[in-house]
Amino acid sequence: MKTFNLPGPKARSLIERDNKVISPSYPRGYPFAMERGRGVEVWDVDGNRFLDFAAGIAVVTTGHSHPKVVQAIQEQAEKFIHISSDFYHEKWVELAETINRIAPFSEEAVSFMTNSGTESVEAAIKLARSHTERTQFIGFLGGFHGRTMGSIAFTASKKVYRHGFFPLMSGVVHVPYPDPYRQILESLPQEDYGDTVVRYIEEQILTKIIPPDDLAGILVEPIQGEGGYIVPSSGFFPALRRLCDKYGILLIADEVQSGIGRTGKWWAIEHFGVEPDIVCTAKGIASGMPLGVMFARKRIMDWEKGAHGNTYGGNPIACAAALATISLVENEYMQNATEVGRYTKEMAEEILFNKYSSIGEIRGQGLMIGIEFVEDRVTKKPAEQLRDAIIENAFQQGLILLGCGKSTIRLAPPLCVTREEVDEALEILDKVIMIGEGEVNTIAA
Ligand SMILES: Cc1ncc(COP(=O)(O)O)c(C=O)c1O
Repeated sequence: MKTFNLPGPKARSLIERDNKVISPSYPRGYPFAMERGRGVEVWDVDGNRFLDFAAGIAVVTTGHSHPKVVQAIQEQAEKFIHISSDFYHEKWVELAETINRIAPFSEEAVSFMTNSGTESVEAAIKLARSHTERTQFIGFLGGFHGRTMGSIAFTASKKVYRHGFFPLMSGVVHVPYPDPYRQILESLPQEDYGDTVVRYIEEQILTKIIPPDDLAGILVEPIQGEGGYIVPSSGFFPALRRLCDKYGILLIADEVQSGIGRTGKWWAIEHFGVEPDIVCTAKGIASGMPLGVMFARKRIMDWEKGAHGNTYGGNPIACAAALATISLVENEYMQNATEVGRYTKEMAEEILFNKYSSIGEIRGQGLMIGIEFVEDRVTKKPAEQLRDAIIENAFQQGLILLGCGKSTIRLAPPLCVTREEVDEALEILDKVIMIGEGEVNTIAA
């Protein structure tokens, strides 16, 4: 296993040019300058090879430049690139029909196409207000839903996303996410923590802050992404669904990161046996082409002509890439996400958790796996510095990783990842956790 000395000369020069002309707001963690990619492998401009366990923030579902996705893009580009959402075309309808087939509810699904995750969330907020004629929402602490002025009102994972941008859209109250590892609320004896959170919403929020008749929707990530790859307590979604049914509140699932087979099912909410009313998706749906979809039960998507729209919605190339992606996920990669995801978690537990007490928890579903680092397993104090050192050292060893939450590393490779690639990544992780622990302890001493 060789250690690179990054950035190399070409990367350094590109980054210098970038620094002059690209917004400094982008949160770049380390200097990876990409030249090309294939499957789970990527190469930088200096010819160094890496394993990509971030997949462009859980986007390149089918791996980098999958030949079938490339072919679908090329074929569509030859025919036409754009016509606008004012007109009709085959791929757009075909994609909406496909979404209808795989939607996580028994009623028919109607789709609104967007260009990103945040735009899917904006569309869901507007649809919920329009359909219910109510104005208020509930979001969750640690949630991430995007950075535009509507979605940012829900995003509550880091203060930097909000600092300097007030006033945000009004009408959002945040409650604790049902994180079984870090419980903020006190449960009753024998009570599932998910039930505790829903009881808190009903007994506290709905009686003191938002009258139920004013509450349009509850926006929630079925597995929290940027907040720390947190799988909620098992009772949470069934209790939340009951609450929504009781008061006529829309359950809006933000599947932007967790959807499209990443967790081993089309939608992460399916793991909890609950049907949402509105779903937001983006990221993994088109293997990297910018596309999002906000879809809802047909009876809910009842807004009038002109109430919402966009120029690029249903872009033909993005739709073609999405159809190719969904077909690949359906035929092989969703199953792979289940099997290789289980293998990854088991091996990470065997090789890493048992060896390093700085690992507080390994959790996740399918290929959405989080490794949380703590100062010790009793206090669970987040080991932020250690996590950052591990990510930086992994990069120097040829492994692309991203953090999430305060001190968690996400393992979110393309869904085509193999066991051999997982073994290689875990070998690097083993080495860099050891190096990281040494570095952080040296600084502390
Ligand atoms: C759950 C979730 N929702 C929404 C978004 C926003 O997506 P985008 O960056 O495409 O606007 C993200 C992005 O990370 C996300 O993880």
